[in-house]
Amino acid sequence: MTTVLVTGSLGQIGTELIPLLKSKGYTVISTDIREPVDKDIFDPFLMLDTRDRDAMRKIIKDHGVEMIIHNASILSATGEKNPQLALEVNMGGIQNVLEVARQEGVKRVLSPSSIAAFGPDTPKDNTPNDTIMRPNTIYGVSKVYTELLGEYYAHKYGLDFRTLRYPGIISAGAQPGGGTTDWAVQIFYDAILTGKYTCFVDHDVLMPMMSMQDCLKATIMLLEAPEQNLKHRSFNVAGCSFTPAQLANELKKFIPDFQIDYAPDFRQEIALSWPRSIDDSVAREEWGWEPDYDLSKLTEYMYNTLKSKLDKQ
Ligand code: NAD
Ligand code: SER
Repeated sequence: MTTVLVTGSLGQIGTELIPLLKSKGYTVISTDIREPVDKDIFDPFLMLDTRDRDAMRKIIKDHGVEMIIHNASILSATGEKNPQLALEVNMGGIQNVLEVARQEGVKRVLSPSSIAAFGPDTPKDNTPNDTIMRPNTIYGVSKVYTELLGEYYAHKYGLDFRTLRYPGIISAGAQPGGGTTDWAVQIFYDAILTGKYTCFVDHDVLMPMMSMQDCLKATIMLLEAPEQNLKHRSFNVAGCSFTPAQLANELKKFIPDFQIDYAPDFRQEIALSWPRSIDDSVAREEWGWEPDYDLSKLTEYMYNTLKSKLDKQ
C-alpha cells in the first residue's frame, strides 16, 4: 500500500485521479487550498498551500508519504492575468515539492507538464518529444522549469522524477480551472443547456486534446513504469487534435441544431503559440503508451455523460 500525497486534489484531474488511485490500492492523502464539497472522494483531506514548505514537510512526515503527485498549478489563461501568482504557485510549488522530497526521502515525484511548455518557435505539427522549448506564457515557462528542475533532482540526487506533457483534458466531472483549452469542455455544457456556444478561439485553431480516460491511463502507466525502462523523464502524450469547427460538427450528430460562433480573445494568441499535434513515440517506446479515444469516441462519451448528469440536476 504505497502512500501518495496529491496536491491540487480538487482540480479537474485530481477529482478523477484520486478515486482511481484508491481503487488501485494506493493510500492517498488529498490536499488543496479549498475544502472539498464531496468529502468522501477526498478522504483523508488536508489543507495544503504548496507555497508553504514547512506544512508540506509536516504532512509528508506525519503520513509516511512515499510518492507525490503534484497537481497544484495556475493554468495558462489565469497565469497570463496574474503572472506573479503563477510564478509563486508554479515555480515555488515545484521547488518545495522537490526539495522536501529530497530531504524526507520521498521515492517518486510525478508533476504534470503541458503542451504549453512548447512555444512559437517549436515545430507545430507532430511536435517531437525533444525539440525547441521557448514558451512565451508564464505557465509555459513554469512547465519548462518543472521539467528541468525535476530532471536536475533526478541526476543530482537520484530522485525518481517523472512528468508528462498533457494536452487539453476533456472531462465531464470537475470543470477545467482557467486554461486555454477550456473551450473544448465548455462547448458541451453550452450545447446541451442552450444549443449554442461562443468560442474564444477561432474556428480553425487546431489543438491537441485528450479524454480524461486517456489522461488517467497515461498518468498511471507513467507512475508505475519501471524506472530502468525510462531513458527520458519528460514525455509527450497525444490523444487527438481537433479544431472548434470539427468538434462542433461532431456535436451536431447529437444536437443537429447546434450553433457555434467565434469571438477570439487573448487566449487565441496563447493557443496559436502551442503545437497543433504531438508526436508521442517516445512514450510509446519507453512505457507502452497508446490512447483509446479519438474525436468521435470522445464526443459521444462527453455528450452522453454530461447530458445524463445535467438532466438529473
Ligand atoms: P485545476 O486548475 O483544475 O486544479 C488545480 C488545483 O490546484 C485547484 O484545485 C486549486 O485549488 C489548486 N491550487 C491552486 N493554487 C494552489 C496552491 N497555492 N496550493 C495548493 N493548491 C493550489 O488543474 P488540473 O486541470 O487538475 O491540472 C493538474 C495538473 O495538470 C496541473 O499541473 C496542470 O498544469 C496540468 N495540466 C492540466 C491540463 C488540463 O487540461 N487540465 C493540461 C495540461 C497540463
Ligand atoms: N489545459 C491547459 C491550459 O490550457 C494546458 O496546459 O492551460
